[in-house]
Amino acid sequence: MRKKIIAANWKMNMTVGEAAGFLDTFLLEVGNESSVDVVIVPPFTALSFVNDRLAKSNYIKLGAQNMHWEKSGAFTGEISAAMLRDLFVRYVVLGHSERRTLFGETDAVVNKKVHAAHEATLKPILCIGETLEQRDAGKVEEVLECQLRGSLAGLSAKELVETVIAYEPVWAIGTGRTASPEQAQDAHAFVRKTLAAIADQGIADKVRIQYGGSVKPDNARTLLSQPDIDGALVGGASLDARAFTEIVKAGLQA
Ligand code: PGA
Repeated sequence: MRKKIIAANWKMNMTVGEAAGFLDTFLLEVGNESSVDVVIVPPFTALSFVNDRLAKSNYIKLGAQNMHWEKSGAFTGEISAAMLRDLFVRYVVLGHSERRTLFGETDAVVNKKVHAAHEATLKPILCIGETLEQRDAGKVEEVLECQLRGSLAGLSAKELVETVIAYEPVWAIGTGRTASPEQAQDAHAFVRKTLAAIADQGIADKVRIQYGGSVKPDNARTLLSQPDIDGALVGGASLDARAFTEIVKAGLQA
């Protein structure tokens, strides 16, 4: 059984004061349930504060939104894996479609980051997903396979198992347009099949695959009930403590 993993990707939102308000409500509402993993992914500037507030919780983990692959050096404006570990970060989102589209990250770059994350014992949440044009052209599987093979190249079996994959169709991110449960399940089953081809079925069966793209309280449960959907990467709805609590609770019930 794969443990569900629900992550709140705050993107470039939430000052420390706003994060405090979110956590006041969220920690109260969500209680101490530990049968799902919850990851809060604040901007770098709120990591330390959120970590302090999460210290008493053993199932809510801290995540970061990006990092550089080098250990240190002249990379103005960048953050290393060791710096994230220093702040007790456990997960790092890599290759998000906004990083790929707006900041030119390629699979080769993402692959370097995935390796650097594992070296520092950070668990990558590797994002993949097709654009609407690619879907309309019947290229979903081709795109997903290429992103998976490129981004995961050279990982050991242990590293693969400790990588979370987030399938996020680009056309569903922040658009209010969610993939149907069938579309999402089909893509997730294909991702798992590809992982089996890259490694083996035993490993593929252990890797957790999140769905992301306009996950809301009212669609979370159906999505999370699909056999190959092991969690959610939530953007917009994760900024609202009550909405995010409902999504976590949907994960508990699914
Ligand atoms: P969304 O974002 O939930 O706002 O669609 C998801 C994501 O980009 O991770």
